[in-house]
Amino acid sequence: MMDNNGFEKMNIQWFPGHMTKAQRMIEENIRMVDAVCEILDARIPFSSRNPDIDRLSGDKPRLIILNRTDLADPKITDAWKKFFEDKGYMVLLTDAKTGKGVKSFVPAVRKLLENKLKEYEAKGQVGRPLRVMILGIPNVGKSTFINKVAGRKAAIAGDKPGVTRGKQWINIGTGLDLLDTPGILWPKFESQEVGEMLAITNAIKADVLDKETLGANFMLRLARMYPQAIVDRYKFTPDPELNGFELLEQAAKKRGFLVSRGEYDIERMANTLLGEYHDGKLGRISLETPDD
Ligand code: G4P
Repeated sequence: MMDNNGFEKMNIQWFPGHMTKAQRMIEENIRMVDAVCEILDARIPFSSRNPDIDRLSGDKPRLIILNRTDLADPKITDAWKKFFEDKGYMVLLTDAKTGKGVKSFVPAVRKLLENKLKEYEAKGQVGRPLRVMILGIPNVGKSTFINKVAGRKAAIAGDKPGVTRGKQWINIGTGLDLLDTPGILWPKFESQEVGEMLAITNAIKADVLDKETLGANFMLRLARMYPQAIVDRYKFTPDPELNGFELLEQAAKKRGFLVSRGEYDIERMANTLLGEYHDGKLGRISLETPDD
């Protein structure tokens, strides 16, 4: 069944228990940190953000990291940066895979917590480390980011007995302790679109969903937002009259994904499309803008 915008309806339901536990872990540990750093996927800053984060973080200073900027549309990433800065957050742009932008992290935290540092100094606690909680949905690049920030100096302090598994303090040797938390998703998707965005960017395993429908909806988004990417990669100009499945079929034709005479393998094309997006082969594509 299609919605008014031409997107096929999908039934995305997801409620893994450990995610709720993780949420509880934030509540239990927020008191122990000086600041909260959220790592978001620069292609989907809205969908990769936990809507409860403001409530959970209380009044702690906040840093937003837009990661995967290598895969995102640079103009849109800049617009997101401005959007969050206007709301009073400190924002960094990173590509954790290559390490681009990562070295700004430590100075940014020190700036963010300038007053805290002064306070420690006044109390004679020079060298007392700042503590930052790192949050992010699964697969957003948290481990990669932390490893890059920590470099060889990383020392994993390990869990304290009796504390929720998965949490760990990482001393990065620059007067900074990071509290790594397991990837956190919220218990329920309020909108199908959020679920789709999370599936497209691999935060949720797409095999729990109908991949063909996911691919068709993604193709339709691409045709509307980045038609040139379809022209460049799949060698046809998307007809605005066609639905997502028809566009997938056209791409399958171009690729020669034939199942039988005159019938094309749409499922294979959907997988190919999502895989190529994941690998950055479609170019730098953002799926959400601050105006949405
Ligand atoms: P997590 O701890 O938040 O769960 O994520 P993790 O660091 O394990 O990163 C998930 C995948 O994303 C890794 O790829 C990692 O290399 C990649 N990644 C992290 N940051 C960036 C980035 O800024 N740009 C790009 N392009 N990729 C990034 P992987 O282990 O090879 O898995 P796969 O997802 O590529 O299959």
